[in-house]
Amino acid sequence: MAWRIVYLLNLLALTATGQPSQTRFNYASSPSEEWDFNAKPSINNTGHLIFDTVSALLQHWPNSRYRNGHNIVPGLVPVGTLLYHGRGDSNLPAEPQWTSTDPEHAYRFCRGGSDVGCWQLTLVTTRPLNVLYFDGASAVKIRDGPMDSQDIVAWGRIVPEWTGSERKRLQDLCMWGQQFSLDGFVRCRLSSEIMLCDFTEGVQVASFLNLVSHGRGPGGPPRRPPGRNPFPPSNVSSMGWDTVVQSSSWHNRYPGDTRIHLDLSRLISFYDTSLVPSLIPHRFNQERWDYRIAGISDKDIKAVLSSLESELRKPQGGSSGIDWMTLIHVIVDRYAERLDMVRYLLNSTEHDTPTTTKLVYAQVEIMLQPYILHSLSPSAGQDDYSWAAPIFRLCTTTHTSYIEVPLLSARLTYSERLIFQALSETNREICRVVTRMWVQGISAGLEKYSSPVSPFGSLLESWKHDINVLMDWLDWNVWVMCRPACAFEEHCYLPTWPFFGPRKDWERPQPRCIRKVEPL
Ligand SMILES: *[C@@H]1O[C@H](CO)[C@@H](O)[C@H](O)[C@H]1NC(C)=O
Ligand SMILES: *[C@@H]1O[C@H](CO)[C@@H](O)[C@H](O)[C@H]1NC(C)=O
Ligand SMILES: *[C@@H]1O[C@H](CO)[C@@H](O)[C@H](O)[C@H]1NC(C)=O
Repeated sequence: MAWRIVYLLNLLALTATGQPSQTRFNYASSPSEEWDFNAKPSINNTGHLIFDTVSALLQHWPNSRYRNGHNIVPGLVPVGTLLYHGRGDSNLPAEPQWTSTDPEHAYRFCRGGSDVGCWQLTLVTTRPLNVLYFDGASAVKIRDGPMDSQDIVAWGRIVPEWTGSERKRLQDLCMWGQQFSLDGFVRCRLSSEIMLCDFTEGVQVASFLNLVSHGRGPGGPPRRPPGRNPFPPSNVSSMGWDTVVQSSSWHNRYPGDTRIHLDLSRLISFYDTSLVPSLIPHRFNQERWDYRIAGISDKDIKAVLSSLESELRKPQGGSSGIDWMTLIHVIVDRYAERLDMVRYLLNSTEHDTPTTTKLVYAQVEIMLQPYILHSLSPSAGQDDYSWAAPIFRLCTTTHTSYIEVPLLSARLTYSERLIFQALSETNREICRVVTRMWVQGISAGLEKYSSPVSPFGSLLESWKHDINVLMDWLDWNVWVMCRPACAFEEHCYLPTWPFFGPRKDWERPQPRCIRKVEPL
């Protein structure tokens, strides 16, 4: 697409020459195709996927929804963070082992007879731990996706036969990580896990308690009442996993588990089509549920590993200082609820159409209000949207044009540039669709400018189509929620391995309300 080429050329020009690019956003001198209202993102572009997955890092909800992670991000666990490890004996692990950030999760592994009790170790970090985070439901031990990125790092290929080989995987990851002084690996299923390479490095024992046990034998699986699904839909079990589901839900949404501080300036993404071009044909004509890393070429595996290793060798702090996570969420916050409202209004077909039209127009106008210049007025031709190009441009560039000033732009790392592109592409598409809807509303006579009034029915149909296509493309995890909202004694839950038995329930999980407590 033309606009994308302009973007890329601009980025390249900036990095290569450091020349100012202020003229680029001066609409008077911009090439007209740059603000073409019909220029959609190319089908194979991944900016929206990078945008959504970066916005979701360390949050359990979106990573339970799309289990197959595509990002690997270095991070730090700050001093004073408690980590928990439940076990069946009182020995400190002498090998790489599992810890959780919430005690509820570790307690599920605190195992011992009811006569002797069980053991729960609490560690506290004494220096910042260097960790590497795999996004997605990377601790879900099922084949076909969630473990792909770890396999690539541990073994240089995806090895389905070793899906359950946790000890080997962790040992090999730790061995590989030694050269970068990595202390552990962060993964997520219900809850965050930190796989620690050495229980004596950077951590000390805060307590090692012999707790009341819930009667499970050492090492064995949690005992279940015979014949009963531990998690009947719309219910919670008395087995204790409900407490994990609950503690996990505290980190469901942004900002997620804040005990891990990620360095986005060193993020590696398998959605990066320059780094990993071999996955483009594998995603083509597939649904997002099925996107995974399998099928990646050996050449791209080498490129990913060499990028990752070079990022891990870099000292921290060589980045622009831009808070990308906040910037992404500024965009999400500004549009998520309003787009959702527009879709809702347009979906209520039984409503009186002129009223719906005005309500939708009002929502669209609020989104664009900061960009609607006093000097603009519609051109004569009804189908010509070009008079509104400055609004499209301002909407698209306001949050990011400062990044392109040479001093700042030159400091962007490779990963920051990737996130910047993803953000620009995503924001641009929102602005294109919303501005076009607004212009169509003006043409239909919904504002003070007078123009021929089109029949509202066809306008509503075209708006409905556009908003649905946009929101399906964005596919923001914030829109996946229980509707109607759950009652006070319930919480909204996405079926996740290992609950709800049949695998089909986790394949395209739909949110549902489950009880937190038994009925009174
Ligand atoms: C939840 O499960 C328990 C045990 O099976 C049952 O007694 C209770 O009625 C269930 N509650 C709901 C709301 O289904
Ligand atoms: C998208 O990728 C597919 C598969 O590689 C390719 O056949 C197609 O031409 C690409 N389309 C565009 C518009 O780049
Ligand atoms: C649109 O309305 C139908 C019928 O009321 C409903 O089933 C559907 O979930 C709605 N879609 C959206 C996206 O809200």
